[in-house]
Amino acid sequence: MTALSRQQLRSVPKVELHIHLEGTFRPARVVELAALAGEEPPRPADRLFEADNLADFLQTLDWVCGLVRDEPTAEQVAYDFATYAHDQGIVYAEVILNPTHWSGLTTAELFPACARGFDRAQADGLGDFRLLPSILRQQSEQEALHLVEWIEGAGLDRIVGLSIDGNEEAAGRTGPRFASAYAHAARIGLGCTAHAGESSGAEGVRDAIELLGVSRIDHGVRCAEDPEVLGMVLERGITLNVCLTSNSTLLYSSLEDHPIRGLAAAGVLFTINTDDPETLGISLCSELEIAAEHLNWNASDLIEAQHRAVDAAFCSEADKRALRALIDHTVGM
Ligand code: ADE
Ligand code: ZN
Repeated sequence: MTALSRQQLRSVPKVELHIHLEGTFRPARVVELAALAGEEPPRPADRLFEADNLADFLQTLDWVCGLVRDEPTAEQVAYDFATYAHDQGIVYAEVILNPTHWSGLTTAELFPACARGFDRAQADGLGDFRLLPSILRQQSEQEALHLVEWIEGAGLDRIVGLSIDGNEEAAGRTGPRFASAYAHAARIGLGCTAHAGESSGAEGVRDAIELLGVSRIDHGVRCAEDPEVLGMVLERGITLNVCLTSNSTLLYSSLEDHPIRGLAAAGVLFTINTDDPETLGISLCSELEIAAEHLNWNASDLIEAQHRAVDAAFCSEADKRALRALIDHTVGM
């Protein structure tokens, strides 16, 4: 690293907006849960998460989450994430949780259990972690609406937004199908984000903005392929929650092929995230280090990136003020 030391990177309070709880299981926890469930892992422990395309990757997440068969275990998985996050200096995160991966629990069991894990973590001083229930791209309009109605009825404070993830390429064009669920989410005060411009191209980003009304996009980097869509992202101030290693593994053949430099130079608002840290063998600090090197960041660039994440977060203005104060008072920056 050049202008930014590893110590500076570790010490700045960090905010992460694009991380899936499904991708945070530690290998040791997976081995333990598989033994309890009497299931044979699909690969040996040291290659458990091996995948070079999105479809295989998502299948592994299904298998891993399917090992969680009761609420205390889901609560523990959420708490495990919090200990990882604390170790990384993450003070606030919005964690995507897609109930379709968790075949052993109902939606009504899963979200309260994870919320309890985050409550316990916050009481233990590990940080403030919120939840983003996520629709799967392959689901129907009715299933998506049911999820939003469930969120409305559950009244869980930790739920701050709606997400959609999964394989956009395999699902085909689905923006129109989910417009009603997103409209309802916005009506009940949820923030709106969507995976797009990963396995879908720039047209997926356009649909997320025009049909789903999102204020931020998870990945979204393929907007770089269409100047008109890139213009739309810039004009509307949409934040892209970028995941460099995830994209270099599952989308591009290397970081050199990634459009982040051009997007940054064009003035796109972007944040740096992990997507699925354990599954990809990375951490937020290691991703920020990659970003800092690739984009030639200094300490103020790092602080600005954290501020962009706070600006795009779905928490209250009061919470954002507290986060900004925390970031600005970092010792030694
Ligand atoms: N779920 C977990 N990681 C994902 C990704 N990178 N794209 C779509 N859905 C996901
Ligand atoms: Zn993702």
